[in-house]
Amino acid sequence: MKTVTTVGIVGAGTIGSSWAAYFLAQGLDVRCWDPMDGYAENVTSLVVRAWPLLEELGLAEGAALDRLQCFDRIGEALEGVGFVQESGPENAEIKANLMAEIDRDTAPEVVISSSSTALPVSEYQHKAKHPGRIVLGHPFNPPHLMPVVEVGGGKLTETWAVDKAMEFYESVGKTPIRLRAEIPGHLVNRLQAALYREAVHLVAEGYATVEDIDKAITGGPGLRWAFMGPHMTYHLGGGDGGIARYLDILGPSQERRWEALGDPELNDAVKQKIIDGIDAEARGRSIGQLAEERDATLLKLLKVLKKPSE
Ligand SMILES: NC(=O)c1ccc[n+]([C@@H]2O[C@H](COP(=O)([O-])OP(=O)(O)OC[C@H]3O[C@@H](n4cnc5c(N)ncnc54)[C@H](O)[C@@H]3O)[C@@H](O)[C@H]2O)c1
Repeated sequence: MKTVTTVGIVGAGTIGSSWAAYFLAQGLDVRCWDPMDGYAENVTSLVVRAWPLLEELGLAEGAALDRLQCFDRIGEALEGVGFVQESGPENAEIKANLMAEIDRDTAPEVVISSSSTALPVSEYQHKAKHPGRIVLGHPFNPPHLMPVVEVGGGKLTETWAVDKAMEFYESVGKTPIRLRAEIPGHLVNRLQAALYREAVHLVAEGYATVEDIDKAITGGPGLRWAFMGPHMTYHLGGGDGGIARYLDILGPSQERRWEALGDPELNDAVKQKIIDGIDAEARGRSIGQLAEERDATLLKLLKVLKKPSE
């Protein structure tokens, strides 16, 4: 059940525009603001490009491109919105000032959710008069396709606001994950960082090329991870005894592997190795082409993985 019908987008760059496309496809009214001159053209162009993919995934009743509105003043954009998705620059001071402004321009029961990748909410909620309704709603790029949103609060956030954000993201078909406490990098990026640390170590020390690493993931665990996480995967790795047996027989080996993991530095030589490796792996494809390939494949995967009720 959708209780929110109008969303305010504050900061409409890569992430804000993609959120705008998603909320429109969910049949909501979207009201945007960004301080950059001419931003409306960029938002419209991203939304128009995303629309065919969103149509293929299935638009909600009433979804329409003309329900997007772009405003020159933040106060105007936030008139009557039921939820705010903030996607301004990743800077605590800018976000704190922005939150105070959004707080002034919206009714106190409206949840204000930040797309912040790594800043804890506690670092940017304190200037608002009603900091209790400021939460994290961290998406993955591009939010119009990626289902996961990490939701959590800061020291001053009230539980009702996190509950309401969880309900809202669920009501628009996202997969929200509630963070139990603030932690740098939230959950998903910590997991990615753990894997990427070892990926960089293996390339830096010459055990593998950049392309070897990418193939190892996409043709290996990455395929399963699209629908079964690492714990459940190991549950099946333990045979009839499940995870308990797995931990008994392969737990000591996991511990030995952890001890052997690398601790690389992103110095100039390592960075150059990665850049050259990507150059070879891309085989002349531009970033635009690669992003198109990514989105087209993501779309196919999302359709395969869609639950019958959706
Ligand atoms: N790019 C990603 O992969 C990604 C993924 C998840 C979350 N995020 C988070 O989303 C947020 C936005 O990132 P992005 O990649 O869209 O950046 P971006 O640079 O593409 O967009 C930021 C937008 O904020 C606008 N802006 C500048 N000053 C502002 C202000 N004072 N108030 C409001 N808006 C202002 C800019 O004009 C720009 O359009 C960041 O917090 C980032 O950490 C990014």
